[in-house]
Amino acid sequence: MTESKKSFGILGLGSAVPDKVLNNFDLEKMVDTSDEWITKRTGISERRLLEKDCPAYTLGVQAARKALDDAKISAADIDMILVTTSTPDYLSPSTACLIQKEIGASNAFAFDLNAACSGFVFGLTTAHQYLLTGYVKKALVVSCEGLTKVVDWEDRNTCVLFGDGAGAAVLGEVENSYGIISTYLGCNGEGSGLITIPCCYMSEEDKNKRIHENKRTLWMDGGEVFKFAVKILAQSCEKVCNDAGIDLDSIKCIVPHQANMRILEGAAKRLGIEETIMYTNLKRYGNISSASVPVALDEAVKDGILKFGDYFILVGFGGGLTWASALLRWCK
Ligand code: ACO
Repeated sequence: MTESKKSFGILGLGSAVPDKVLNNFDLEKMVDTSDEWITKRTGISERRLLEKDCPAYTLGVQAARKALDDAKISAADIDMILVTTSTPDYLSPSTACLIQKEIGASNAFAFDLNAACSGFVFGLTTAHQYLLTGYVKKALVVSCEGLTKVVDWEDRNTCVLFGDGAGAAVLGEVENSYGIISTYLGCNGEGSGLITIPCCYMSEEDKNKRIHENKRTLWMDGGEVFKFAVKILAQSCEKVCNDAGIDLDSIKCIVPHQANMRILEGAAKRLGIEETIMYTNLKRYGNISSASVPVALDEAVKDGILKFGDYFILVGFGGGLTWASALLRWCK
């Protein structure tokens, strides 16, 4: 008799955003923009900002604690912490080690992963492999971002888009054929110059792109990223459905990276599905990079959108260029 393959999925979710709100009207006083332009071109109305003296990992700690509570397990039961971030507070220690200490997960090894806005789905997929091999029994994936610390507040092309936040998921064994069904990761380094945040090195090209050449801030070719995003979002959803042999019509909800409402509309049109299937909260938070998928998923679950047995897709795309999707079956 062959042993059936174990299934692994989400046991608990949590999210956290800073209290401070910056709305489009506040931005009108900072750069040459308008609430009308931002709302129409992006769908964003406001975003959350960390205070200057507050490190981003503190949001990750809050999200992680909520996810542990939701999963009804203690931090000591976690074997592995994987943090996804493109805005670490330190290059060393990793954000994962800082969170491990704060939540008291003393039995867990911990490391960071950077796949920009695709980070959470990369993290989920990576942790899933550790679970499948039996190397760990319970994993905590935390996506934690402080984008407003690397935004150039003089650049209207980017500063209106981003916000801060964190989302977390506890992963472990679930009922057979539930949880994570299929995953897909991709990357195209040819597009690495389209979204950049310099750190220990700045090329002449990086300097020339920025308003003040010494600024280590986020720069993005929005138009090119937009075209890539619409295409890859649709392709990534199709890929995980095809791999799992599940029809797109059976999907209850798609939780995409929250970059721009027009990207989600374009991808829905390409897929031939109703836009309403795409869960969105970008109006309130803007783009919070890798944290956007788990924060949106946490809210979708709290809104009662997912019921036991529902199929859903998580999909991210962003700097690198990277993209990632996962098809899951909700089992709570
Ligand atoms: N307010 C007013 N006008 C603006 C603003 C603003 N905030 N920003 C740009 N404009 C102007 C531009 O200067 C331009 O003016 P011009 O025609 O006189 O030159 C005009 O608006 C149109 O600019 P576009 O860049 O063509 O605007 P577009 O409709 O493409 O929207 C945006 C720009 C919102 C950035 C869009 O391209 C986008 O969402 N791109 C994708 C971003 C994304 O998905 N990122 C995900 C990854 S992020 C990561 O990995 C960290």
